[in-house]
Amino acid sequence: MLERFSISLEQDLLKKFDRHLRSHKYGTRSEAIRDLIRKSLVKEEWDADEEVVGVISLVYDHHQRRLQDRITDAQHDYHHRVISTTHIHLDHDNCLEVIIARGNAGRVKELSERLTALRGVKNGSLSAASTGRHIH
Ligand code: NI
Repeated sequence: MLERFSISLEQDLLKKFDRHLRSHKYGTRSEAIRDLIRKSLVKEEWDADEEVVGVISLVYDHHQRRLQDRITDAQHDYHHRVISTTHIHLDHDNCLEVIIARGNAGRVKELSERLTALRGVKNGSLSAASTGRHIH
């Protein structure tokens, strides 16, 4: 059920908010506000070390010696948390591996940091997703 409430904002802040809403293609202010609230709830889950879902992306050098083994070893060490791994051969030199992990935020971050720090990983990122429990 939807509830309505009104918000008071300084003009300047409202202008900035409307710009944000246009650049992010929101249809209405309500949808933009709902998203901001959900984002901040997800951030709270991560900050409080709750159970989260994280999407780890790695772009790395296919020719780096033993790197693929190290990436696989790390995932075996966290095998209770890794729920999916997709490997894409981007081109002759580069691979992309996307790892979805579920568990306490601290452990998911730990895995992401371990993978990203490996020599030969050119780009590593962790996208903070949610289990969905707290953001209906
Ligand atoms: Ni590959």
